[in-house]
Amino acid sequence: MMFKRYFLAGVLFIFSLTSSQAREGMWIPYLIGQLNAAEMKTMGMEITAEDIYSLNNSSLKDAIVHFNFGCTAELISSKGLLLTNHHCGYSQIQSHSTLENNYLKEGFWAMSQEEELKNPGLVAAIVKYMEDVTNEALQDVNDQMSAAEREVQIKNNLEALLEGKRKETEYDLSVVPFFYGNQYILVAREVFKDVRLVGAPPSSIGKYGADTDNWIWPRHTGDFSIFRIYAGKENQPADISDDNIPYRPARHLTINANGFDLNDFTMVYGFPGRTQQYLPSNEVANTVDVYDPARIAVRDVLLEILDAKMRQDEATRIKYATKYASISNAWKKWKGEIIGLKETKAIAGKEAFEKQFTEALKKRPQLFQKYGDVLNELKNLYEERKPVMLERYHYIEIGYYGNELFRHMLSYRSMAAVSEEKLAKLAESRAGSLERFYKNYDVELDRQAALALLPTYIGQVKTEPIPQIIKELQNMKPEKQGKFIGKLFEKSIVLNDPVKWQEMLEENPEKAVKKVKKDKAYQLSVAMYDHFIEVLNASVDEMNSRIDHLQGQYVIALQKAFPDRDFYPDANSTLRVAYGKVDGYEPRDAVYYQSQTYLSGVIAKYIPGDYEFDLPQKLIDLYNNKDYGRWGEEDKMPVCFIASNHTTGGNSGSPALNGRGELIGLNFDRVWEGTMSDINYDLSRCRNIMVDIRYILFIVDKFAGAGYLIDELDIAENDEITEDTPLEESIEG
Ligand code: ARG
Ligand code: ASP
Repeated sequence: MMFKRYFLAGVLFIFSLTSSQAREGMWIPYLIGQLNAAEMKTMGMEITAEDIYSLNNSSLKDAIVHFNFGCTAELISSKGLLLTNHHCGYSQIQSHSTLENNYLKEGFWAMSQEEELKNPGLVAAIVKYMEDVTNEALQDVNDQMSAAEREVQIKNNLEALLEGKRKETEYDLSVVPFFYGNQYILVAREVFKDVRLVGAPPSSIGKYGADTDNWIWPRHTGDFSIFRIYAGKENQPADISDDNIPYRPARHLTINANGFDLNDFTMVYGFPGRTQQYLPSNEVANTVDVYDPARIAVRDVLLEILDAKMRQDEATRIKYATKYASISNAWKKWKGEIIGLKETKAIAGKEAFEKQFTEALKKRPQLFQKYGDVLNELKNLYEERKPVMLERYHYIEIGYYGNELFRHMLSYRSMAAVSEEKLAKLAESRAGSLERFYKNYDVELDRQAALALLPTYIGQVKTEPIPQIIKELQNMKPEKQGKFIGKLFEKSIVLNDPVKWQEMLEENPEKAVKKVKKDKAYQLSVAMYDHFIEVLNASVDEMNSRIDHLQGQYVIALQKAFPDRDFYPDANSTLRVAYGKVDGYEPRDAVYYQSQTYLSGVIAKYIPGDYEFDLPQKLIDLYNNKDYGRWGEEDKMPVCFIASNHTTGGNSGSPALNGRGELIGLNFDRVWEGTMSDINYDLSRCRNIMVDIRYILFIVDKFAGAGYLIDELDIAENDEITEDTPLEESIEG
């Protein structure tokens, strides 16, 4: 066994020098046959492009699920069983948790379908088909139009198109721009609304290493949770109901628990959210020098305030678990992004590339005439946008993420503007959501954050017209400002008399509206928000439509200047395929990170009682007894692995598939040195991190004792090449 592993790895290594290397990119599934399949085959893919995406037959695509439009999940049984990350199901797990029944802490396993937990609001979408509608979208659009005229024309075209198509289908339809509007693709999907929680490991496994280990390799997190899609009698999407039955998918994934080797082909199939691969050098510099640092600075303050109390108090920890995790996640990523962009000399690299591009254009006078100014205009626009963007980020960070009371107050804004008949209904729904707000709210923390951060925001507001209430604050001395901010929390009816407030909303909505309009926290929050929408966003939106158009022109010019290269569209939350190889990397001089971690590494990080690195005794016992069931690799238990698949936020929960399209891992993160991959992918150090499917099966089977779930799965038979198989034959075969 060991012999075979090393020998094969050696052969593959030589082979990979002559075959094409893994490469960056998130590719559109229905174009794989045209653009990527040949290369994927040389890298070890055994299936066809048609197996990945097919219009007429079931294909892997039918097993890939957009989980609440933020993460990815995959179908792993004929009864709608869904695998995704622990951090993707986190807020659902949290919502069922209380101090007495703490599923975040203890884990949760439904022991039968009756015990699976419903999650109002959670949706799971499956793509039925994608269709290029560029011609329809761009009909009657021409180069003489201004950006705004163009936008209106396209919007009208798409509305007409969708209206027509909607008459022919039950599917949920939308059209998404690719390449900044050079291409438009219609996406038809089924959106399921009854998605139930089936199982989740305790956070000490599912979130092991928490924020310290987040974005870090080597990693030891079992970041998975299990859900199930329920459908109506006809297998169709249906509202939550006890009458629903488990969804029967057109396709579910086969699992391969036989392991894999260094350099093996892998692909990741999912819904990457957003990348910015075509930014010009100056905007990359703005990200490194201005935007990322500003946002990090605000979150530094906020996280310190939250962390101090969460470490002291278990109840606060439960309340703020989701909020803290989401604030710290991007915060840490930006930190890594700055370092990575600097270390890979991304700005200089982009500048050199831009020079190359301009020279290539110059060689073709016609091209140069048409596109020669695009890059400079684009760069100028980004500079023009910079101050407004910065102000905007301060609102987003401080007025929105950094202030829960303000965020809550905004939910009454629509009440103040609505007709009498609609008011009662709205007020009732606000009353209904109050409980959720109070359940996870700590006024003292929020007040501390406001005192620490609002003055920064107030100082940053520069774009006229500035609302009166903000002007007044700008003219106050710091002490007076502080008093004013403190009072917002003391005086707000929402906070100082929750019972009365709820009653008022339910019984006398007119009075509630009058009351809330007089509330200073409401007034300030709304003033800030309106300034954000009406002044900052209006200005940025106008610039963005020009920027988008120029970015699109830039991509067209790139394609013409470098006709031999394939360009992939930036991620836009649509279904994509990335492919690469299981591979380690060199994070710094003389250090090499291997591609696989094991349970011994989990145990090595164990800190009893710690909130990030504590472990359940049962896992330690299983380790000590080497009790790994069918899932270990000799006497070791694999945990996580890395590969060179180009992924981003939204790819969490995506399946990692082997050359046969079988499930071998669950994507959940990227390595610290490669977090800049959204802007500047670098094959030598960008790696995606996956939980090894064997660890997931081991936890479900041996740790949780949920063997009945294992019985639902399709696990590929062990047909691994043995020592007896002649090597030549197995390599050729
Ligand atoms: N960094 C991963 C992603 O961007 C995982 C985040 C969840 N984990 C956490 N500790 N916050 O989403
Ligand atoms: N952790 C990310 C997610 O939640 C994935 C990534 O950014 O690599 O989608």
